[in-house]
Amino acid sequence: MSSLSTTSTHDHASSVHLGYDPEEHPREVSRHYISASDDDLASMLNKVGLGSLQDLFSHLPKPQLFDGDLSLPEELSYKDAAEHLHQISRKTNLHSSFIGDLLPVWKVHPIVEQVSQLRPLSTSYTPYQPERSQGTLVTHWIYQCVLSALTGFEAINTSLYDRSAALFEAICCARRSRKRSGPVLLAQSLFNEDISFLNTHARGTDLEFEMAPLNPSSGRLDYAKIENLLTNQNTNISALVFPQVNALGILEEVDRLVDLARKWSIPSIAVIDPMLLATGGLKPPSEFGSHGADFIAGEAQHLAIPPSFGGPGLGLFGSRYHEEAKKDLRNTPGRYIGKAKDSQDRDCFVMVLSTREQHIRKEKATSNVCSNQAFLATVAGANLLAKGENGLKHGLSQALSSRKQASQWIGQREGIELAFPNSPAFNDLLLSVNQDPDTLIRRARECGIHMGVDVSSRIPQSDKNLIKLSFSDAQGEEEMAALKKFIFDFFPASSCTQDEIETPSHLLRSDPTNLPGFSHDELLNYYEQLANLNISPDDGCYPLGSCTMKYNPLLNDWAAGLAGFAQAHPQAPEEDVQGPLEVLYEIQEWFKSITGLAGVTTQPVAGAQGELVGLKLFQAYHHSRGEGHRNIVLIPKSAHGTNFATAATAGYGSGIVYLQANEKGMIDLADFRQKIEEHGTNLCGIMITNPNTSGIFETDFSIIAEEVHQAGGMVYMDGANMNAIAGIVDLSKLGVDAVHNNLHKTWTIPHGGGGPGDAIVAVSEPLVSFLPGRQIRKEEDGGFRSFVPENSIGTFHRNWGNFGHKVRAYSYLLRLGKKGVPRMSSVAVLSSRYLFEVLRFHYPTLPGQAGEIARMHEFILTLSDQDFERLEKAGVPKSQAIPQVGKLFLDFGFHAPTVAFPEVFGLMIEPTESYTKAELDRFAHAVIAIKDLVETFPQVVASAPHFTPIDRVDEVAANRNLCLSEKLSHLPSLPVNRIQPSVLLGLEIEEVKKRILQIHDLSE
Ligand SMILES: Cc1ncc(COP(=O)(O)O)c(C=O)c1O
Repeated sequence: MSSLSTTSTHDHASSVHLGYDPEEHPREVSRHYISASDDDLASMLNKVGLGSLQDLFSHLPKPQLFDGDLSLPEELSYKDAAEHLHQISRKTNLHSSFIGDLLPVWKVHPIVEQVSQLRPLSTSYTPYQPERSQGTLVTHWIYQCVLSALTGFEAINTSLYDRSAALFEAICCARRSRKRSGPVLLAQSLFNEDISFLNTHARGTDLEFEMAPLNPSSGRLDYAKIENLLTNQNTNISALVFPQVNALGILEEVDRLVDLARKWSIPSIAVIDPMLLATGGLKPPSEFGSHGADFIAGEAQHLAIPPSFGGPGLGLFGSRYHEEAKKDLRNTPGRYIGKAKDSQDRDCFVMVLSTREQHIRKEKATSNVCSNQAFLATVAGANLLAKGENGLKHGLSQALSSRKQASQWIGQREGIELAFPNSPAFNDLLLSVNQDPDTLIRRARECGIHMGVDVSSRIPQSDKNLIKLSFSDAQGEEEMAALKKFIFDFFPASSCTQDEIETPSHLLRSDPTNLPGFSHDELLNYYEQLANLNISPDDGCYPLGSCTMKYNPLLNDWAAGLAGFAQAHPQAPEEDVQGPLEVLYEIQEWFKSITGLAGVTTQPVAGAQGELVGLKLFQAYHHSRGEGHRNIVLIPKSAHGTNFATAATAGYGSGIVYLQANEKGMIDLADFRQKIEEHGTNLCGIMITNPNTSGIFETDFSIIAEEVHQAGGMVYMDGANMNAIAGIVDLSKLGVDAVHNNLHKTWTIPHGGGGPGDAIVAVSEPLVSFLPGRQIRKEEDGGFRSFVPENSIGTFHRNWGNFGHKVRAYSYLLRLGKKGVPRMSSVAVLSSRYLFEVLRFHYPTLPGQAGEIARMHEFILTLSDQDFERLEKAGVPKSQAIPQVGKLFLDFGFHAPTVAFPEVFGLMIEPTESYTKAELDRFAHAVIAIKDLVETFPQVVASAPHFTPIDRVDEVAANRNLCLSEKLSHLPSLPVNRIQPSVLLGLEIEEVKKRILQIHDLSE
């Protein structure tokens, strides 16, 4: 069993072997992963005064509810679900592969598998509470430091979605920080998929591209032409983007390109593969030209996990941060971890630079990315440390030696030769063949080899037949022998040999990376200690409102690790990846049913990217109708920050109109109508979260949707809160045109300390033909084929999105079946309603006038004016009161609720459906104890938390004296829990309270 990795082999014949005993994990074997017993449910229903689960939704307009079962299969038993998943995975044909290309494949150290099983690391939330997240924070710090050692860049963020996304963000960042607005010069030798991603994102914005041409006779960029182009346009170009290893596998003249850009004061963005920068590898981008590149972007998935049919990816982004180069950093996207001190001067880590993020700056944020690929950064760091300097060097030399062997075999044959023997290459081999590459690739496949990629079309106006092979440490003797046999069988011996130039030293690394080495045991022990500093939803209620921190089944991770899923390369022929295509097809169809909508794309990798897909679809739709002028997007003021940031990213930055809420926290119809009156003719669309961020269902949704449609606009529903209504509300009846489903919330994907997330987007009929990426259809012969929709807006991922996560959601849905989906939502709402009923007599609730309006899956508590005054007197200013009360939750062994969103003075609680009544009661008891402490001993709030490994962190100092990486000569030393979270969870609530008071020499 693994979380995001596998060490499975190609052996398909073995029967299902889980590697763990599900019976040892009570949540794992509960029906629908709901722990509450029938008695629990009856008792909770009784408390909230309802007779049945259906009654929970009686306040919703009836016509908007599903009136029958979803078109999903019946639920499967645990054993049958495992068997079914195993059978599908066996439909994949795994061959000896030399594909690499868009997604290189390298060996992953076994430690990745083991770290993936450390649930407090793999299932915990984004480390916004540093006192309870040092585990995650340290793993990300390690990632930053190791990547910094490889690249020479001082500031590496803790991940973006993938290479294409990192490139897009790097371009936006470069233009923003240098205040340049002209076209971006893009190397034609970048991957087409990255270029398509950029074009998709640029449409409708002021971002324009010009192509830096390729020289067809060298397979490299045409440097002279680029120089001319820059000379003619020097004042205009806003960034130069180029790859170190280009899409033909040839090395570009990186020094020349960076110096050229610098000559014209143009920021340079280098696309790199970090694996190739190890000792014995290519020159680090900090040394390109006289001063180094300004930004880097790249793919790092292969540093962390197997290909997994293309995802989750790991987008690498870096910028410089030293005495002479500091200014870019404040414009960069994503999350960073910095060194810090707590109030007792302990060394620790904390997220820094967050003032640039969407939750603070909304449409002025530096990016709309929220969930990132955090857990891949965690395991990438572990993998690189476990391999160490020597392991990485060894891997590279194995790749180079395999390549050399292959090139020698080819040199002895006729009809196949190096395409550009005078152009430098590294671990790729670009071959020119005397026949149709497609036929050759097919023949190789018949011999059990995925030989490589047909790249003939990557050189325009060339009639060469080109195949690119990629070498790494993943090909062993067996694979090489198979390749040799094929080449020797297929191409006759030649009398002449072909010479190839050596890779020139100016393109190679000169100094070692000096990465430290650790033994496997030492490292594993260290990561286990890190896990102990975090907490997991496995252990109890993890009440983060809006984040849906529910139980993440082990079965999902086991399924994602099956060889037929984890080892499938996204560019393998479709005949060989029928297993992955079947999963994608089924989930595509199931989400049509779950949402009630006509079309689905499984490509988007996070909620925020789903939002962008939605708005881009609206944009394309309006353009297709000759209504491209529609530039207004209505968004309720209380919406999540990504909604605003996404609208800005889509090109609507100046067209965002805020909608007001009424006193009950719902969209104010009068205000909405006034805005429609004002902007109707220019209305692009509206973005509404439903249930809204206060946990209240927008009962006027369909009226609003109808009026938006009448005005010619489209309706986006932020589906972050689908956990409350999945299988209950038919979104087509609500009037939704596009919605994202966060797989890392409702659909049980582990949060990974910040990601990877995932987002399946469903759309109404008019948008189906515009969907991005590829759709999958089932053929009459039962096979699965993909196709591009007629008017597709383009692509949001180099391949199929975060495929591994699709397997996890699929596995979950197999266990839920058609009945389980609505039951899951019902129990989630019941658990929340129950807690609300208990707690509302102890805390004031928000929104202030919402009173007894039925809450859905979450609710907001606050403090009374007297409480705020008490706290103020005890030294906690009102602005700090709610975050500090959140810290008291940590003392009781829980994570804090969501603080200060959407209400500045709110504590937003979402229990989910995963816990028993006894667990909810204990949680409620703790929340009431916290209120008692606030009222009676407010001084303890100021010093909370008390039992975590560290005290309050000085975030201001950490941001002032930024330290984002350092040379890792040893593993960072770790603080220790003053009381283990597992011990806290086992204590009586009164006992915890007593221990808090004892620290202050107080007693009740
Ligand atoms: C209401 C809401 N919308 C959008 C998002 C963004 O989703 P993601 O983090 O998957 O990009 C979130 C994330 O927490 C959210 O709560």
